[in-house]
Amino acid sequence: MNLTRLLNIEHPVVQAPMYGVTTPEMVTAASNTGCLGSLPLGDLPAEKCREIIRTTKQLSGRPFATNLFVNEVPELTIELREKYALTKLFIEGLAKQYDMEVALPGIDELEIGTYHDQIDAVLDSDCKIVSFTFGNLDKPAIRKFKSNNVVLIGTCTSVAEAVLLEQSGIDVICVQGIEAGGHRGAFGSDYIPQIGGLSLLAQVSGTVKVPLIYAGGIYNAKTFQAAKALGAQAVQVGSMLIGSAESALKDFEKQRLTTVKETDIVLTRSFSGRYARGIKNFFTESLDNSDYILPYPYQNKLTGELRKLAKARANVDFVSIWLGQSITGYSRRSTSEILTGLINEIGNV
Ligand SMILES: Cc1cc2nc3c(=O)[nH]c(=O)nc-3n(C[C@H](O)[C@H](O)[C@H](O)COP(=O)(O)O)c2cc1C
Repeated sequence: MNLTRLLNIEHPVVQAPMYGVTTPEMVTAASNTGCLGSLPLGDLPAEKCREIIRTTKQLSGRPFATNLFVNEVPELTIELREKYALTKLFIEGLAKQYDMEVALPGIDELEIGTYHDQIDAVLDSDCKIVSFTFGNLDKPAIRKFKSNNVVLIGTCTSVAEAVLLEQSGIDVICVQGIEAGGHRGAFGSDYIPQIGGLSLLAQVSGTVKVPLIYAGGIYNAKTFQAAKALGAQAVQVGSMLIGSAESALKDFEKQRLTTVKETDIVLTRSFSGRYARGIKNFFTESLDNSDYILPYPYQNKLTGELRKLAKARANVDFVSIWLGQSITGYSRRSTSEILTGLINEIGNV
């Protein structure tokens, strides 16, 4: 199966969905460059999904993918309530020490939905490509998307996950190497496979038959060629776009990118409860290996207000800046210019 034809794109490059960073303008720029733009819906309520899809459609005349988080939500037990209360107190206290006075939400104030709430918003908006991460869609969801002729792209971080995706009829698999920026797409959240991109892609392409997209550390022609040689038909790029003009990162966050060192880039559960790769800071150092990490999405919801305040105050010690292991220069140029540069380089190899 030819992937560029299936996805109706000119170049074998996917702009990674990056919740919190990707804007409708980034998706539009990627699509207009002949790549696949991807709009992340994260944990947005259905109405917000409709709104942001509408905005993107108005800007972009081209098709783009929407992206879902398909995690399960752990049951709210008494133990979890107790741990939530303790974690809330700990984080509020930590923030206070650094002049970040913030009242985090109580557990009963949280609004926690699931991707099931978002499916109709995607289908009603006539989005024909849906990618997803944090597990697999359930059978009814797969049936619903398929009966609406939606192309499904699942994310794997191990061969076993790839096999499960293929067996359940997912059309395309995005193979996420351990070097990738942002959250791990692993099916579980406590244990994550930590398989490097070379090993993972080579083994997945030797095991499944569906077309593969590779994500993790791609930023130039050589890394693209490596992914191609190992069996990927396309690549998905995230980190190389986080400094772009269309990125939602604030100026102080883009500034932080300019001094990032390889030892600053870690896997952390501190902000969301799921492992994600990004820049370590006071918050990650204080929380990782502590007892104050709740399962996703509770930790994520709990820390949301703190991250918002830190962004507003330009406090680099309490924001989550996700990025991968390839330190790329993080150009501030437009998404189109960055992607065109990559495409031209690929063409010249
Ligand atoms: C800031 C950031 C946010 C991300 N958010 C998402 C997301 O919402 N959904 C998703 O499927 N992947 C997300 N990812 C992971 C990317 O899809 C992709 O796997 C990764 O960016 C590839 O590695 P690279 O950053 O080295 O290019 C995110 C990555 C980054 C850097």
